[in-house]
Amino acid sequence: MPSSMFTRLLTAVLAFAAVPVIGPAVANELAAPPAVAPVPSNGLATTPPMGWNSWNHFAGRITAADVRAMADAMVANGMRDAGYVYVNIDDTWEGDRNAAGDIGTNAKFGDMKALADYVHSRGLKLGIYSSPGAKTCAGFVGSHGHEDQDARQFAAWGVDYLKYDYCGARDIYPVTQRNQEMLFRKMGAALRAAGRPVVYSLSQSGDFDIWRWGPQTGANLWRTTPDISDNWESMSQRGFRQLDLSAWSGPGHWSDPDMLEIGNGGMSTDEYRTQMSLWSMLPAPLLAGNDLRTMDPATRDILLNREVIAVDQDSAGRPARRLERQGDVEVLVRDMADGSVVVGFFNRGEKATARLSWQTLGSRFGKSAQARDLWQHTAIDTGSPFVTTLPRHGATLIRVGAGQ
Ligand code: GLA
Repeated sequence: MPSSMFTRLLTAVLAFAAVPVIGPAVANELAAPPAVAPVPSNGLATTPPMGWNSWNHFAGRITAADVRAMADAMVANGMRDAGYVYVNIDDTWEGDRNAAGDIGTNAKFGDMKALADYVHSRGLKLGIYSSPGAKTCAGFVGSHGHEDQDARQFAAWGVDYLKYDYCGARDIYPVTQRNQEMLFRKMGAALRAAGRPVVYSLSQSGDFDIWRWGPQTGANLWRTTPDISDNWESMSQRGFRQLDLSAWSGPGHWSDPDMLEIGNGGMSTDEYRTQMSLWSMLPAPLLAGNDLRTMDPATRDILLNREVIAVDQDSAGRPARRLERQGDVEVLVRDMADGSVVVGFFNRGEKATARLSWQTLGSRFGKSAQARDLWQHTAIDTGSPFVTTLPRHGATLIRVGAGQ
């Protein structure tokens, strides 16, 4: 079993053993949360958020020292300057509340304000995690009944991003769309009232077509799938499924097929390049999930490919669409703000060759078109049709500008 999967399982088991499960008695006591009005957009995340999140690699072992080390690594390895600015602490930072009900951190984290100050001093932003449940998904203290107080506490610490995970609320309220919507709106409104700009990220598994109602909670992004694992089936299934949801994604409000697994060891370099390419085409948040202190050159080249990052971060935020299918190769196309298009060739099977005649992209893309390979970083001759050979599970992205 890959070690990251093992730690995730271990965290879940430990959390279960350590925390008294809130049983059906409580579930029956609270039939429904009170109604909360729709929350207007906060104007943030006009392009998909970029950064790092602790869960995929560290799960429950994350500490403040690790977070500082990740912030240092993001500065040293160029990630910050390439746009990865959020350093997001996932579940397991939480400690007990004090007599006034203020949430504290546990021994792994200590002074959260000092940690936020440190992350900010490195030119980065800090993200944190909570849940509308009394407990989080891993069994730590959640925000239930303390939403406004927690939002104010996060603001006082200097938190810039909140991942809010429905998980623990399942133990309190029946799982219905209305309950999810009201609980997510409640924290959305609390964040607005606290007055600090905070990117608001919802986490559930894509229940009740969350992409249709997510914007009314004040959120900037919402998970559309169960948790990703570090393998091809899990990653490719999540990524390609997203193409059917593209109508609901755009500047300020993004569908989130979960975090990157690039560099975690369970997939081939070609498969990791596919994750980076596919997430950038969708476009989706780019939240690295590996140990940034020990990245090998191949991982660094993938995460730091600025031409591909520019596709993800294109200001128009228009989603990719399916252009055609050539056997196992999916050909996707995305319109960029500058009038160029990016074409993605994704091989979902064994080694294959794909072709494209420039006219397929429209009459303005003829022989005089300018084309560039975004992984090879080379110009492409547009005098003849484009032909590329893709390894098993490999991808190529090309950017094509109209001719003169
Ligand atoms: C859920 C989320 C994960 C992670 C864990 C933490 O499973 O989907 O991304 O945040 O909770 O407990």
